[in-house]
Amino acid sequence: MSGARDDLGRVSAAHPVLASRATSGQQTAPHDEPSRTSSVTWAWSSFAQLPVDHLYAALNLRESIFVVEQDVPYLDADGRDPHCRHLTGFADGQLIAYSRTLPKDLFEPGFFSFGRVVVHPAHRRVGIGRELVTRVLDHLDEIRGNTPIKISSQLYLENFYRSFGFVSNGEPYIEDRILHIEMVRGLCRQGAVS
Ligand SMILES: CC(C)(COP(=O)(O)OP(=O)(O)OC[C@H]1O[C@@H](n2cnc3c(N)ncnc32)[C@H](O)[C@@H]1OP(=O)(O)O)[C@@H](O)C(=O)NCCC(=O)NCCS
Repeated sequence: MSGARDDLGRVSAAHPVLASRATSGQQTAPHDEPSRTSSVTWAWSSFAQLPVDHLYAALNLRESIFVVEQDVPYLDADGRDPHCRHLTGFADGQLIAYSRTLPKDLFEPGFFSFGRVVVHPAHRRVGIGRELVTRVLDHLDEIRGNTPIKISSQLYLENFYRSFGFVSNGEPYIEDRILHIEMVRGLCRQGAVS
């Protein structure tokens, strides 16, 4: 790990994509308007707003990681995408980070959710995944009121999601041949989590 991290774990230097983030002072732009942190351009889109080349890049990144890299044959295009919001992070014209949020009740009745959290392998371990999830949770916190968020986390990331206030629920289970654990986040990020 290189570079100093701030309280969100962001790296202040060392990786070219993030080199000026710590001093940029830039905030998240309103949804649907792209925002930049150093050379990463972040954008939220509904499915209908997602340009076809961005959709293709998202499916390509998702499949290359969740199907090929993790060696799991499963249906990535699962029919939920038209109901989701999609967060893309581009650097130098390449999609390097992606996630989607699921509206209330789509993952499970009574919960919001998000998933397909992915960072391109060439850009990992420099803080982009933490920024991606921070942005996902900022968005969900704006719209969810008191409705909790439930996710099915790969077990190796349990501590990562704990650092965002998620609490594990039950025992690990196998999903698509990979160990997962259900995690829930309640009312607020830094305070008590119900
Ligand atoms: C998970 C993933 C998005 C993290 O992206 P990233 O840009 O490398 O993440 P960051 O650099 O912001 O690191 C954030 C934290 O993630 C966790 N993490 C990342 N890679 C990890 C690994 N291989 N093992 C355990 N924890 C890991 C750590 O808690 C890390 O914090 P630290 O650097 O302080 O230890 C990325 O590794 C990825 O795309 N993995 C494949 C897809 C996947 O498994 N997605 C999750 C589905 S639930």
